[in-house]
Amino acid sequence: MSGPTTDRENDWNPQQYDEAFDFVARHGTAVVDLLDPQPTERILDLGCGTGELTRTIDERAAAAIGVDASRSMVRTARSNAPACSFAHADAHHLPFSMKFDAVFSNAALHWMDDIERVCRAVWTALERGGRFVGELGGAGNVHGICGATQAELASRGYAMELPWTFPTIEEFATLVSTAGFELTGAWLFDRPTVLEGGDNGVARWLDMFGDELLGAVPPTERPSVVDGVETRLRSEQYSDGTWTANYRRLRFVAVRQTAERIT
Ligand code: BEZ
Repeated sequence: MSGPTTDRENDWNPQQYDEAFDFVARHGTAVVDLLDPQPTERILDLGCGTGELTRTIDERAAAAIGVDASRSMVRTARSNAPACSFAHADAHHLPFSMKFDAVFSNAALHWMDDIERVCRAVWTALERGGRFVGELGGAGNVHGICGATQAELASRGYAMELPWTFPTIEEFATLVSTAGFELTGAWLFDRPTVLEGGDNGVARWLDMFGDELLGAVPPTERPSVVDGVETRLRSEQYSDGTWTANYRRLRFVAVRQTAERIT
């Protein structure tokens, strides 16, 4: 998918994602606990990735349906969690006529072009009083890798715009309330995360997530850009053979207000 209202395009490698970035689903179980799925509930998992958390939700709910903008992720999710339903869909334009009791999202909203529009689509997909519970990168998320990449690219004459949105609590509160939700809980916290792959941790992170960050760089130049990023980061984020990325999470609970949205 492409264009200004679709989820960000990244060349996802679901197998590598599950192997080297399994911490995403591991940390996400705490967000499922916050969601607290009930046995009668139908729950939508927005940006379900490889479906690990959709399956966890499904074990506690009546039904869980996962959607993702990546076809390869949806294919992998279907084989990882055959009891669940999955759809390839753009979160800005959810394709459901049925209503959900809750919508869940882990580590996906920051990839989406227009979070307010996504919140409006979630509002439409929810029953009145339904809850929207999730976690995304918050203000300052992975600022070490982003800052070092930006500096390295600038030194080579490339411009770089961050392809993600990492809001503050105040910014997120405005987005969700404009879309018709009451934000009943929000937490912004640091989660320093050791990257798998030892010496190659940053290179693997950029290989997995950096398609847009490094989009302007010819493939032949990328290895030297990665070397430059590592050099800039090493004193802050490398120790004893491992890289640590300064992840920062924004976790939230929002409730669809019972009044009809006016706009
Ligand atoms: C995150 O989950 O915070 C994240 C993952 C990849 C790129 C940017 C942020």
